[in-house]
Amino acid sequence: MNVILLGPPGAGKGTQAQRLEERHGMKQLSTGDMLRALVASGSALGQKAKEIMDAGQLMPDELMVQMISDRIAQADCAGGFILDGFPRTVRQAEALDEMLAAQGMKLHAVIEMRVADEVLVDRINTRIAQSQTARSDDNVETLKKRLDVYHGQTAPILPYYEAQGRLITVDGMKSIDQVSEEIEAILTAAV
Ligand code: AP5
Repeated sequence: MNVILLGPPGAGKGTQAQRLEERHGMKQLSTGDMLRALVASGSALGQKAKEIMDAGQLMPDELMVQMISDRIAQADCAGGFILDGFPRTVRQAEALDEMLAAQGMKLHAVIEMRVADEVLVDRINTRIAQSQTARSDDNVETLKKRLDVYHGQTAPILPYYEAQGRLITVDGMKSIDQVSEEIEAILTAAV
């Protein structure tokens, strides 16, 4: 199955994507992790990515679309994938529809994980406190910008998928296990 997990920073996309990968062998495709690998490479593009991520802004659509297009064409995605962090703009969502159609692939579920902003701030603060190597975009100031970008640029994806009859929303404020159960039920129904 091919699945999109949508939600603001700290909604639990990565947590649930990892579980799906472990349980079902679907490949987790985290654009944030891909960009952090690019930053670690030390390339000029990686340096640019770091500046944009640290500012809480989005990378250019064309770059992200190319990154995902290259990735889903690889053999390890043949058994299904979970998009974690992509699409993040309506332009990316449109491009994804085009690339899936061109490759004869289907989207089985678009799952929005809805979490109130104040809960997200608590979660990211907990993640900062627990991590020995905190992400450079995990701080209160950048998180506020990331949330603004989510509401302004990413949330318009929700009506896009709703209009296609694909959007399913889960309460991301339940426990991690409860959210997993809801996602499992959605995937079972989507088979
Ligand atoms: P990215 O790495 O995708 O970050 P994000 O979307 O801000 O998401 P997070 O990783 O912070 O949160 P998450 O939803 O995965 O939550 P998690 O499972 O970690 O993107 C980083 C940056 O890269 C962007 O700002 C942008 O600059 C750039 N970028 C990436 N993709 C792009 C794109 N497509 N286009 C343009 N730019 C792009 O959970 C968070 C914490 O909460 C954890 O500690 C977890 O244990 C806890 N938790 C999870 N679920 C629960 C629960 N149910 N109850 C209690 N705690 C929970």
